[in-house]
Amino acid sequence: MSAATDNANVPAHVAIIMDGNGRWAQQRGLPRTVGHKVGVESVQAVVRAAQDLGVRILTLYAFSTENWRRPPLEVQALMGLLKSFLESELTAMVSNNVSLRSIGRKEQLPGPVREVLERVIAETAGNTGIILNLALSYGGRTEIVDAALAVAGRCRAGELAPEAITETFFADHLYTRGLADPDLLIRTGGERRLSNFLLWQASYAELYFIDTLWPDFRAEDLATAVRYYQGRQRRFGKTGEQVR
Ligand code: FPP
Repeated sequence: MSAATDNANVPAHVAIIMDGNGRWAQQRGLPRTVGHKVGVESVQAVVRAAQDLGVRILTLYAFSTENWRRPPLEVQALMGLLKSFLESELTAMVSNNVSLRSIGRKEQLPGPVREVLERVIAETAGNTGIILNLALSYGGRTEIVDAALAVAGRCRAGELAPEAITETFFADHLYTRGLADPDLLIRTGGERRLSNFLLWQASYAELYFIDTLWPDFRAEDLATAVRYYQGRQRRFGKTGEQVR
């Protein structure tokens, strides 16, 4: 039994790469889409657990720019799950004070998914509780290029000189503008890579990799990850003595 969670040192922003749905299903002789379906139950459990822990922002990597290359039927199933998740969770999000946001190229999503996504974002915009931030058709490099294009456009329009570009100014043009960087980045499913997720924002995130497949990841696994985070010393380039 590990130590209790320190309520005063909860990561404000937790980001998760939800990996392992396909393998979870294959291990049971089931179609991959069943893994995604059970993965939605993990999403529901983890949102509630994050809220209970006092996490302020939860970013979930639900669909990457690269995921469009998957078999069309799997893409269709994922889009269907996303749409039904948004439809069925709207009431709960409103009553639990959850505010939904998304990052990624929303315009690439099928029309009906985009519509429900925008509706839930609008209807929960005034909520002041946890921000559930879904990364959809998201790619870290695409995000950086989109920000560079926006900044270049402003320079060309004469709004600012290139020399005036700072890290803060650039970050204000990322999809995550207004959101603090992730403190803790979790990846389930055993791989130890970022897979194009929050490349700019994860600069100083604590990384937590776990073999558990996403459909098996539940509240107690999130609490374990948070305790791991609480055991780390974050130095942001300083020495251990400086931050003690
Ligand atoms: C990675 O597992 C998972 C995904 C590409 C999709 C994640 C989506 C969900 C959990 C469900 C929908 C999301 C929401 C927010 C309702 P994988 O298929 O790559 O697994 P594998 O590595 O075992 O093949």
